[in-house]
Amino acid sequence: MDNKFDEGYAGIMAITKGTETRITDDIYWIGGDDRTADLFEGSIPVPEGVSYNSYIILDEKTCLLDTCDASIASRFWGNFRNVMAGKSLDYLVINHMEPDHGAAIIQVLETYPDVTVVGNSKTFDLMKNFYGIEPAHKLEVKDGDELVLGKHTLKFIFAVMVHWPEVMFTYDSKDKILFSADAFGTFKTLSGALYADEVDFDRDYLESARRYYSNIVGKYGSKVQSVFNKLEGLPLEMICPLHGPIWRGDDIGYIMEKYVRWSLYEPEDKGVVIAYASMYGNTACVAEKLAIMLKGKGVERISMYDITRTHPSYILADAFRFTNIVLASPTYNNHLHPAMSAVLEEMEIMTLQNRCYSVIGNGSWAPQAHKVIDERLSSLKNMTKIGESLVIKSSMKDDQVAELEALADEIATSMQP
Ligand code: FEO
Repeated sequence: MDNKFDEGYAGIMAITKGTETRITDDIYWIGGDDRTADLFEGSIPVPEGVSYNSYIILDEKTCLLDTCDASIASRFWGNFRNVMAGKSLDYLVINHMEPDHGAAIIQVLETYPDVTVVGNSKTFDLMKNFYGIEPAHKLEVKDGDELVLGKHTLKFIFAVMVHWPEVMFTYDSKDKILFSADAFGTFKTLSGALYADEVDFDRDYLESARRYYSNIVGKYGSKVQSVFNKLEGLPLEMICPLHGPIWRGDDIGYIMEKYVRWSLYEPEDKGVVIAYASMYGNTACVAEKLAIMLKGKGVERISMYDITRTHPSYILADAFRFTNIVLASPTYNNHLHPAMSAVLEEMEIMTLQNRCYSVIGNGSWAPQAHKVIDERLSSLKNMTKIGESLVIKSSMKDDQVAELEALADEIATSMQP
């Protein structure tokens, strides 16, 4: 017996034919879509689901690159079994030890007791912390180390803090494929399209990719820049992330350009994200009037959010996208509306920078919200305040319309070339 599959170990498999897909002569994708999860990492809504990718290289030595999330374990094992077809597994490379890619590690080790697990020192620390295991056979690699499988030689490129400390990329010099861990990944299921060039990415996936980047990797822009330096000059025919579609051909340049921009905290588009909280509709009314004025002044792209109804991840993503931010909040307990505090906290944690911002505050007897918003946004790096803070008392009065118009003028002008 080659392995425990033949002894019926993998009884969890409910399927006989899976979704495994060959992506080169001897490399296979064996991931799956999850449409059941409401929240990613127990925090970020994923209404369009998420995919978990895993890959196998069949060479003189066989190699599995990362495993899967528990939600797709059955699919993963079905695909895995079909690709392996009774072969033994020589290596398990762990590019990322977060459990959304590690849920099958224990079973892999139990199924293939002779498998060598490839990772770095931090990988093995995390493996012990999460699963209490120390592989019997492990290959602890350093940045730049190589592993020969036969025709394929794998090079390990550390991508520290993109977005965890143990993260590494694996580069296959034969097929010029970068297995990039979470980098270049997106939320949203694949739904049959394994490659980015099989979908209208700008229309159907870019928003999910931006929300993924800004909320998962966003804080670590300088770390993304560091790993980009290591990739300089590396020929790339494919990038295989752990989530979302595979990148190939010209699309590699497309997603690289997005990552360079996002990691430098440079906006993609001239436009405004207006995010407001409102207790009785009056702050909402000012925000909406501002949007109408901006439209009238030729501002094409305006995203508006009632932040009491929208998860901060969406607002953060648009803050990464656009040049301008407008935050509007009532005063609440001599501070901010709690939903506005949550939005600002996300921007602070993810180190948003290089944006223009404007402030609208409401307060019935002692307005404070505008001061707190201003203080918190101005403390981020390289932020430019546009216009004076507009402060209303309970509701906007006729004589403040001109003030709002002036603010709209300044915002529109700030977007001029
Ligand atoms: Fe997809 Fe950081 O795990």
